[in-house]
Amino acid sequence: MERTLSIIKPDGVRKNIIGDVVKRFEKNGLKVAAMKMVSLSKSEAECFYAVHRERPFFGSLTEFMSSGPVVLMVLAGENAIQKNRDLMGATDPKKAATGTIRKDFADSIESNIVHGSDGAETASFEIGYFFSGLEVLA
Ligand code: CMP
Repeated sequence: MERTLSIIKPDGVRKNIIGDVVKRFEKNGLKVAAMKMVSLSKSEAECFYAVHRERPFFGSLTEFMSSGPVVLMVLAGENAIQKNRDLMGATDPKKAATGTIRKDFADSIESNIVHGSDGAETASFEIGYFFSGLEVLA
């Protein structure tokens, strides 16, 4: 059993596809262990994406992530981190495989519908950033 953080980004919420995204996780053996919708401030988005602060896209990424509500989820299951990454597809939707969330719904490398933790250490930081232990129920 493993946990990972998933975010449905502001573009996913604006497109009204929260249910479609969650259905893909559930249909593929991932369990929603925690879920909430929040609006991130610019500085909350900056802290979350701090590893990218030197990247040229940092300003626009954090602007985008604070442009509207997001859905935060902890997904739990066997190989949850990799399974979530497989279901999301490549960061750039142009390079994402057929049948993945980003291939089917995303418009660009920045507006790419979902975020998922990229490893065990990141998952632990990212889950702890948004959820207390009491809020994670699987
Ligand atoms: P995510 O999985 O949330 O992790 C970091 C995000 O930065 C990534 O998805 C993209 O939304 C964004 N990103 C990565 N590379 C670029 C890029 N070259 N230009 C703009 N945004 C990017």
